[in-house]
Order: sequence, then structure tokens, then C-alpha cells
Amino acid sequence: MDHFSVVQSIIRSGLGGDQAGMEKQVQRLLTRLEKAGQQKEAVTIRRLLSSSAEIREITPSRVEVSRSIVTGEELTPDTNPPIDRETGAQLCTIEFPGELATVPVYEQNVREAIQGLLDEWSNPEALRCVEVEPTRSLLIFGPPGSGKTMTARHIAQRLGLPLVIARIDGLISSFLGTTARNIANLFDFANRYTCVLLLDEFDALAKQRDDPQEIGEIKRVVNTLLQNLDLRREHGVTIAITNHDRLLDPAVWRRFETHVHIGEPNLEASTRLVKRFLLPIKPDDALVIIIAYCLEGRSGADIQRICTSLKRTLALSGQAHNGQGVFHALSAVLARLPSHDHFPAKLLAADPEAFISLITNDSNLSLKQSDISAATGYGQSKISEIKKAKRHLALMEVSNG
Ligand SMILES: Nc1ncnc2c1ncn2[C@@H]1O[C@H](COP(=O)(O)OP(=O)(O)OP(=O)(O)O)[C@@H](O)[C@H]1O
Ligand SMILES: [Mg+2]
Repeated sequence: MDHFSVVQSIIRSGLGGDQAGMEKQVQRLLTRLEKAGQQKEAVTIRRLLSSSAEIREITPSRVEVSRSIVTGEELTPDTNPPIDRETGAQLCTIEFPGELATVPVYEQNVREAIQGLLDEWSNPEALRCVEVEPTRSLLIFGPPGSGKTMTARHIAQRLGLPLVIARIDGLISSFLGTTARNIANLFDFANRYTCVLLLDEFDALAKQRDDPQEIGEIKRVVNTLLQNLDLRREHGVTIAITNHDRLLDPAVWRRFETHVHIGEPNLEASTRLVKRFLLPIKPDDALVIIIAYCLEGRSGADIQRICTSLKRTLALSGQAHNGQGVFHALSAVLARLPSHDHFPAKLLAADPEAFISLITNDSNLSLKQSDISAATGYGQSKISEIKKAKRHLALMEVSNG
């Protein structure tokens, strides 16, 4: 039997109740199937992984955070946030944990990194047996709209802690020395109370000290930041977020124990995002995969925006909310978007039949002709004809220049 050793590892983790280990082994099996060219089996496994992730995303649970991780007084809605003494601007806003929202959609490695942190915070004693402390500082980086801010909110929610969100515009002052003082006041406030401190758009504060555009003030600001980040370790969890990780001063970068990169979603994660954002419309799986395939390389926020547009277009078209209706609406929405480089999307916007030729000939997608027929509204014999003609090839050559 092929891949027997991996199957054995899956069974071992499953019987031992090790969910995370089992998922890792299933992922290994998936990689091996893909390498061996067993696309049909790979697609089946990918779907199983995806539906198990979906179940966890809609049923998040709160994590019991150990009180040794976060110390301080309780924040209440009456607590006044600190302000800039010159302008009176607030240095932060405070969000209190409410109902648990659905979990952001992640690729497996990001999901594991976030879950790993939650595990550390709920069980620091296990770590202390081997004389290590739980992570208290996390730097999240990645492109715009990938769910970084959403992740910080999600972490605070899962921990059941208020989130103190630094207001970068409030912190930065044109008066010499005031920015540094504001930073110190913000950290004093966060250290006094039980909370998660969030420094969003962190690069605005933590720019490299050797930036030739900047002079003395930025050095002073970064040094204050470094000192305060060091002191904060005793008090609670800090999350910083940036889109521009290359701009960060290396010394600041080192202050964060864990770095998590949230990039554009892969096909599996995009599929789950499309499913989520199209609700209450529930297209068949093949159609969801086709939509995700067209949106490859786009961020979660883009996928949300495009799905909303698709729903609007569909609602006004008077067509059925599945198959042909959704397929037409997708083509119309893609045609209206500003020009994009992703070939499948370009093709569907311009020439739906050539697009069908592409997907019927793409073995990575591994969609049955009957499913493509249901998803697009084209009859099966027409699909076979389009597949044979391979019209997409000529267009692909033109597109590659
Ligand atoms: N991974 C994801 N899972 C679920 N929803 C997502 C995801 N990524 C983006 N979104 C959607 O896009 C919205 C914007 O995401 P968010 O503000 O967290 O992105 P960001 O990475 O912080 O972007 P920016 O760098 O522009 O601040 C979210 O509120 C959510 O609706
Ligand atoms: Mg953000």
C-alpha cells in the first residue's frame, strides 16, 4: 500500500487523541499524494481538511488564561484612557470582550501558530516545568487586508481580555519629546490594567533609527519603545502589527518573541473564505472552488469585497442563486474590476468558454465534468467540446506576451 507509513502515523495520532498531530500527518499525506500526481485523492483529502477547519472556525471556545500571564487592575467602561497633554487626544481606545465572533480563516501553519500561543497562555505551568515562560509578545506582519487586526481582536476575545488599542495618530506629536512621553504613558496605562496591548500600524513608531529622512526624534522614540517593551514583559501580552516589516528597526524586531506572517490565503483557505462571505448563498462545492480559483492571490478583505459585489449583482440579475446565475454574476463582477494579472480571472471576465476550457484541462483542480456543468450551466456535451478545443491555450500565449 502506498504511503502506508503516513497512514500509520495518522492512525496513531487519531487513536491517541492528538488532533493537532493528526492534522499534521494528514497534511503530509496530502503533500505526498500531490507529489505522486494522485490529484483526485489529493482533492478529496484537501476537502476533508477544509471542512474540519470550518467546523472549528464556527465554534470557537474561550481560553482560560492563567492569571500569572496578565496582572493588574480590572479595566471598566468608566476607566479613562490616557491623553496627550498638549492636544487632549486619546492615546488609545479600549475594546471589551463580547460574544465570540467567528474565527479568522487561516492556512494551517498560521492556525497552528495562533493555537500554540493560546495553549501557552492557558497552561503556563507546563512550560515552567522546563523552565520557560509563555510568549508574551507577538509581532504579526503581512500584506494589507490579510486579517492581521482581526487576528489581534480574535486573540483578545479568546482570552476574554480587554484590548487596549494604541492610537498612532494620538501618540505621534509634532512637539519634541512629546511622542516619547506619550508612549511611556500608554505603556504605564497598559501595565496598570489586565489587558492585551495592541500596537497596530507599528512601523509608524518603530522605524529604523538609521532612516536618513529622520533625525534625532525618531531615535528617541525607538529607544523609549525598546525600554517600554522590555518592561512590559512582566505585565502582560503585547501584539504589534505591521505591513512593512522591512521598515522596522532590527532591535525592535528582536523584542518580539514570536513572529507570525499572515499572507494571502492559499486555495484551500480562499475556498473557506468564499463560502463564508457568500452566505446566505450556498453554491455547490465545485462552484465555490471555481470562485476561489479566480480569486487566487487576493487578500481576505478583497475576497470579502468581491463576494459582496457578486451577491449584489446576482440579486439584481433575477437569476437562480446557484450554478449558471452565480457563474454569470462572477464573470460580470470580474469584468468590472480594475485590470488584474491573474490569468483565470482575466479569462473569465473576457471569455467564459475559454475559462471553462482552462478549468476542464487543469488537472490540479480535478473537477468532474458533471460538476463543471452544474456550476456553469453549460451542458455536458458542450463542456466536452470546449475541453477538446483548448481555446484557452492561444489566449494564454497572448497573455504571456
Ligand atoms: N483571514 C481572514 N479571515 C476572515 N476574514 C478576513 C481575513 N482576512 C481579511 N478578512 C476580512 O477582511 C477584513 C479586514 O481585515 P483586517 O482589517 O484584519 O486586515 P489587516 O491585515 O489588518 O489589513 P491592513 O494591513 O490593511 O490593516 C476583516 O474584517 C474580515 O472581514
Ligand atoms: Mg489592520
